[in-house]
Amino acid sequence: MALPSALAAVATLAAAVLLLADGCGAAMYKVGGLDAWAPPPGSKPDVYVQWGKSLPFKLGDSLFFLYPPSQDSAVQVTAKAFAACDVSDPVLALDDGNSVFNLTTAGRAYFTSSAAGHCRKGQKLSVDVPTADGKLLPPSADDQAALKALTALPPAAAPVEALPTLSDNGDDSADAHRVAGAGSVLAAAALSLALLL
Ligand SMILES: *[C@@H]1O[C@H](CO)[C@@H](O)[C@H](O)[C@H]1NC(C)=O
Repeated sequence: MALPSALAAVATLAAAVLLLADGCGAAMYKVGGLDAWAPPPGSKPDVYVQWGKSLPFKLGDSLFFLYPPSQDSAVQVTAKAFAACDVSDPVLALDDGNSVFNLTTAGRAYFTSSAAGHCRKGQKLSVDVPTADGKLLPPSADDQAALKALTALPPAAAPVEALPTLSDNGDDSADAHRVAGAGSVLAAAALSLALLL
């Protein structure tokens, strides 16, 4: 009976992947779930904020950024640089399109893109890595400033301290982007579920 055994194989595989992601071993998370690493779409300006909050990161896990190398990059930055979208002196910069960052120290880790303007468009991710015994470290003053910058998303509604915009052709439809809330939280939950399965 080919079909039942194929189904059994799929079920076994799904269980194995779940164990890998959920057990004591290290997990690799594809950033953003199914989407490529890119500026968030207007309909989901906080997609990376929600994604970063939705997963149980552990020491030893890694983050996988997938993107077209001609269009983007993945850089780890300090909390201060993250708050200011300053990518001039990253902690670690990768631009090969398949970038893996290892979460090897407890505390907050900050990532963005060094492509022009992408950080200010909300392409920024912060994850909180607990200590080996499962405790989250209290945020430093720099961490608090960085997290505050994240709550200022969506960037379409926060041009206050931005530099002159790069490619604004007078399309001021900022109101069209004000549709966050329960929908995106559900979407993030669905993405993390999909990831685990
Ligand atoms: C992350 O860890 C893997 C496996 O230990 C290693 O091959 C890789 O070079 C590390 N990546 C970085 C960016 O340090």
